[in-house]
Amino acid sequence: MAGKTKILVVNGPNLNMLGMREPETYGALTLDAIEAKCRAQCDRHGFEMSWMQSNSEAVLIDTIQKGCGQYDWIIVNGAGLTHTSVALRDALALFPGQVVEVHLSNIHARETFRHTSLITAIAKGAIIGFGAASYIAAITAIAETQEEA
Ligand code: DQA
Repeated sequence: MAGKTKILVVNGPNLNMLGMREPETYGALTLDAIEAKCRAQCDRHGFEMSWMQSNSEAVLIDTIQKGCGQYDWIIVNGAGLTHTSVALRDALALFPGQVVEVHLSNIHARETFRHTSLITAIAKGAIIGFGAASYIAAITAIAETQEEA
């Protein structure tokens, strides 16, 4: 892919409810506010960003498949599907670019069913527990990784 680095950010089920959803766990920011922060961070680095959220596993998978060859990186918060969906993991595994997993909360400090991520093993890395800053750190990590290369 020539030109600017292209990043697709994929957000899974219930993340559209951020702001009113368990703010003590996920913070007070809406998903739109997190998107705006990420867009500003991508602009700083000269990256192009596409952003999506769906409550549907099929839509998430279709979007990832269509993103093959279109994006260099996927930043993914699989939300609840992180812990359960082999199909989401398989879609991310077939993506020819690189994957960064993010979570707002520290999934390892929560219920045991959240301790397993099916995504981490196919990702370049994971950033968890920093709220919206997990996403920002993922964008920064992409920039630093590319500088190293
Ligand atoms: C989450 C953590 C998941 O366990 C949970 O199901 C979510 C959000 C996070 O960003 O902290 O929906 O992915």
